[in-house]
Amino acid sequence: MTNLSSRIANLSPEQRQRLVQRLQEKTGATRRIASPTAVDLKTEAILDSTISPEGKPVETTPHPRSIFFTGATGFLGAFLLVELLRQTSATFYCLVRAGSLEVGKQRIQQNLKEYGIWHDRFSSRIIPVLGDLEQPQLGISTELWETLSANIDVIYHNAASLNFVFPYSVLKPMNVLGTQEVLRLACQTKVKRLHYASTYAVFESPDYAEKVVSEADPVDHSEGIALGYTQTKWVAEKLVQSARSRGLPVCIYRLPLISGHSKTGAWNLKDFTCLMIKGCTQMKCWPTLDSLISMSPVDYTAEAIAYLSQQPNALGQTFHLTNPNPVHVNEVQQQSQSQQNPIEYLPYDQWQARLVEVTRSQDNALSTLKPFFLEPWTDEQLTIPEMYQRSRTPILDCQATLKALAGTSIVCPRFDRKLMTTYLFYFIQTNFLDAETIGRSQFFWIKLLLPFYRLKQWFRS
Ligand SMILES: NC(=O)c1ccc[n+]([C@@H]2O[C@H](COP(=O)([O-])OP(=O)(O)OC[C@H]3O[C@@H](n4cnc5c(N)ncnc54)[C@H](OP(=O)(O)O)[C@@H]3O)[C@@H](O)[C@H]2O)c1
Repeated sequence: MTNLSSRIANLSPEQRQRLVQRLQEKTGATRRIASPTAVDLKTEAILDSTISPEGKPVETTPHPRSIFFTGATGFLGAFLLVELLRQTSATFYCLVRAGSLEVGKQRIQQNLKEYGIWHDRFSSRIIPVLGDLEQPQLGISTELWETLSANIDVIYHNAASLNFVFPYSVLKPMNVLGTQEVLRLACQTKVKRLHYASTYAVFESPDYAEKVVSEADPVDHSEGIALGYTQTKWVAEKLVQSARSRGLPVCIYRLPLISGHSKTGAWNLKDFTCLMIKGCTQMKCWPTLDSLISMSPVDYTAEAIAYLSQQPNALGQTFHLTNPNPVHVNEVQQQSQSQQNPIEYLPYDQWQARLVEVTRSQDNALSTLKPFFLEPWTDEQLTIPEMYQRSRTPILDCQATLKALAGTSIVCPRFDRKLMTTYLFYFIQTNFLDAETIGRSQFFWIKLLLPFYRLKQWFRS
């Protein structure tokens, strides 16, 4: 049994999810994977009292030489790392899960290559640091931890597990305790500036419904936050805020849904929005929901964080990198479909029934997200997409962020048909979706050009 428990403990979150799903299928269990247990988030958000910058020398160099970076093998992390490599001359010590330094470096390099943003000249400035957010001291040996504590000037903490199905208890070690360990590093030996990637979902509590929330508004309410992921991000941001109130120089970036690169379309194809577009296209139907979507392309997000994080007066501030022009979910649905490939719009309960029916007999991109779409998560028996209806969500204000970016060329692109076409092209290039399934006439040309594109990619890799 001990052996079995340790084998389960060693599984990655994705492997654990698959195991739970297989067990549920075998036993016919209908309980959701992620029941929103009553976690007292305010108690969870008490920062370890030993983490404090008090009495330590403060690193103030405007041109950091050594930057500690988490999440370089992820989506935003790839683009942010490249942007910072371009804009600074620092060396990046990147926390990475791997069995050896060589594999760690390869994982980072491969990730940048897949998004088409790798350059050999970056190589010497990327140093892998083997570790794991889930472990004390981030799983870094004490000797290296002390060296990093003494030599790192700035930290970008961007890694997290973005699983929308797991409960708080499963995600806490990465998203909450991992953030606490990053704060420990920031306060150890000398005080380092910290840039932290948060989410606008910290305002998910129904207490914020239909209220305007700006960068300066406090994040007080946690009641009614249902998603385990959002609960962990709420607690993690509160820990970061506590460290800020103890004197740590911190910037917080609240992110909306991050969409693909506005020019190349490069997007994390495991991302929720990509899976939604693919799954609904495969099912040939979308649910009718009254939700506003704030999607910011990853190039805007990365450029904005890289710029803002280097402004001396930005320290201590919070930024909303939400799209100033949110769109109705209908717009996203319509722009992703075509007249040649008509699609049905179904009331949510009928769409749920179709999802259950479709996933019984065919592969569908939404199969693993079924608990998210089907299970009631609130006392009112609402699923998460229903909770995200316009009448239940806040209005995100980002005026202070736009003001801080004024005078630069960093502007969040509007979501329109052109941008969606860029994304669909990327989906086809990468074999995520095929041109016939989407059925737009312009994809005839894309099909002709694809062999040349693939050849180019092959030479690049
Ligand atoms: N994407 C969005 O739409 C969105 C929206 C709002 C906020 N955010 C926030 O933005 C940040 C980046 O998101 P993303 O979309 O770039 O995520 P992502 O593509 O899923 O990348 C997550 C990164 O975190 C790393 N990570 C996860 N667990 C780890 C652990 N135990 N130890 C070390 N590293 C670990 C992953 O490493 P592996 O490769 O080893 O798994 C990966 O590099 C996150 O903080 C997220 O909460 C994202």
